[in-house]
Amino acid sequence: MKEREKCANDIWHSGFERYFKRKPWRAVLKKKRDAAIVLVTFFLILFLGALVFVGWFDASVFRGVSQKTNPTPSRIPHEFPLQCATRSQSQTCPKNYPSKHNPATNPDRPSNLTSTCPSYFQWIHDDLRHWKETGITQDMIQQARKTAHFRLVIVKGKAYVEKFRQSIQTRDAFTLWGILQLLRRYPGRLPDLELMFDCDDRPVIPSKHFSGPNAAPPPLFRYCSDWQSLDIVFPDWSFWGWAETNIRPWKNLLNDIKEGNSRTKWKDRTPYAYWRGNPWVSPVRQDLLKCNVSEQNDWNTRLYIQDWVKESKEGYKGSNLQDQCTHRYKIYIEGWAWSVSEKYILACDAMTLYVKPRYHDFFIRGLVPLQHYWPIRDNKKCTSLKFAVEWGNNHTKEAQAIGEAASNFIQEDMKIDNVYDYIFHLLNEYAKLLKFKPVIPPGAEELCPEKMACPAIGTHRKFMEESMVLAPSDTIPCTLPPHDPSILGNLSDRRDKSTKQVELWEDEYWEKFSKKP
Ligand SMILES: *[C@@H]1O[C@H](CO)[C@@H](O)[C@H](O)[C@H]1NC(C)=O
Ligand SMILES: *[C@@H]1O[C@H](CO)[C@@H](O)[C@H](O)[C@H]1NC(C)=O
Ligand SMILES: *[C@@H]1O[C@H](CO)[C@@H](O)[C@H](O)[C@H]1NC(C)=O
Ligand SMILES: *[C@@H]1O[C@H](CO)[C@@H](O)[C@H](O)[C@H]1NC(C)=O
Repeated sequence: MKEREKCANDIWHSGFERYFKRKPWRAVLKKKRDAAIVLVTFFLILFLGALVFVGWFDASVFRGVSQKTNPTPSRIPHEFPLQCATRSQSQTCPKNYPSKHNPATNPDRPSNLTSTCPSYFQWIHDDLRHWKETGITQDMIQQARKTAHFRLVIVKGKAYVEKFRQSIQTRDAFTLWGILQLLRRYPGRLPDLELMFDCDDRPVIPSKHFSGPNAAPPPLFRYCSDWQSLDIVFPDWSFWGWAETNIRPWKNLLNDIKEGNSRTKWKDRTPYAYWRGNPWVSPVRQDLLKCNVSEQNDWNTRLYIQDWVKESKEGYKGSNLQDQCTHRYKIYIEGWAWSVSEKYILACDAMTLYVKPRYHDFFIRGLVPLQHYWPIRDNKKCTSLKFAVEWGNNHTKEAQAIGEAASNFIQEDMKIDNVYDYIFHLLNEYAKLLKFKPVIPPGAEELCPEKMACPAIGTHRKFMEESMVLAPSDTIPCTLPPHDPSILGNLSDRRDKSTKQVELWEDEYWEKFSKKP
């Protein structure tokens, strides 16, 4: 219980609610939709009448979208919104969703041109390498059940779920929601598979228990891992919305952040290191608070405690995006394990001061210190932070470039399409290792968006509708390059070298001070 509270409280301050409130996006959407329906009906009647004379139509008219920039007519992507049952019916899964993904049939898009996946996708191979030789048996999967929250089985493009225990908040639901959206994005493209998923924070499969030629480590999916563990990392639930903290789904949130960033130029931002969060989830964070500005010391920091309970009671009124992205430097520090706040901090156009982590999520291994962030020592945080901020204020061009590189990484390599493709390739590569044919578990029921979203209410329902994939993608997934250990080796080398370099600068700087009389 204690751990659960810790996790549940490990919540980063959301400044995005204000945006949310200011832009009644739902109303806008609804208005647009209503307008579209009226337009469609009107034109449909016209169209039927004119069908005899006209052999073609410009689809854009029907959608109410001006296509002046694109003179070639485009097809209407056929969309499949939620089909909720009326109160007297029981909710079933619709049968009309495409079961095959064939984007090449769209003549307007060169969709069969493939793009290469971002380089951090290489870690998929690395995370699965423990099973390269042995493959994955049903027995190994069964071993992973001990801590799992659910079993997911995909057979013929449909998802079946067996739930074992309650997860923190709605982590499991939004994770499954994401997988269902992937199935809608690429219908029929995922192979049959079976997996176990644990929604808690810390990894639980220690590699030292599973070494040697006969090792059969249980394959277990979760949101983060560390260098001593074999847990397979998977994007966290918040990409589809974190209802309990009112953090909206990633795709729209990224746009909100971009807009927020454009408001204050880097040079006009407060030249200190900012952090706001819950310090009670880990001793490292409590230690960080010692570095706050005080009468005795100025470590160039501005640190604040986030009272999340108060915040939620007041309807997130105190949340403010400007408080989040108005500093030149932002501190990232782990909580109970990795922290969901990471991607929001990196997106801020500020130079991220990244306190040496223990855990990793699926994308952080693609970032390099001095290129995307500034490494901060975990054992000398205050002096490390002070030096970093002073360096940045002395080298504004470089510091700004580091902040922008991270934001670009988040906006491009981490856009929702790439998150889907990461999951696609992870599951695809995983399924290749299975040594048995997955079957629908006895008594299991098919899971589909309707079964999740139709009974949902409030923010949960809102976020599900917002993050729903309405039609199959008009492109195929990016191409996953084959396993190349040298790429990961090079990345690690660069990471180590840059970190050492910064530590050296830091030591030289502080040495000068200690020599002064
Ligand atoms: C892509 O599709 C078009 C039309 O179907 C075809 O002519 C072309 O050869 C395809 N290109 C590739 C790279 O497969
Ligand atoms: C850190 O210092 C600032 C400025 O004095 C203050 O407003 C803030 O409450 C302090 N934070 C903590 C956690 O004590
Ligand atoms: C920043 O510049 C000042 C003035 O040139 C210098 O004294 C200080 O050592 C510099 N600090 C860092 C961290 O580069
Ligand atoms: C790794 O680094 C070496 C030397 O720095 C370089 O020659 C090699 O091409 C790099 N490999 C990859 C895959 O980037």
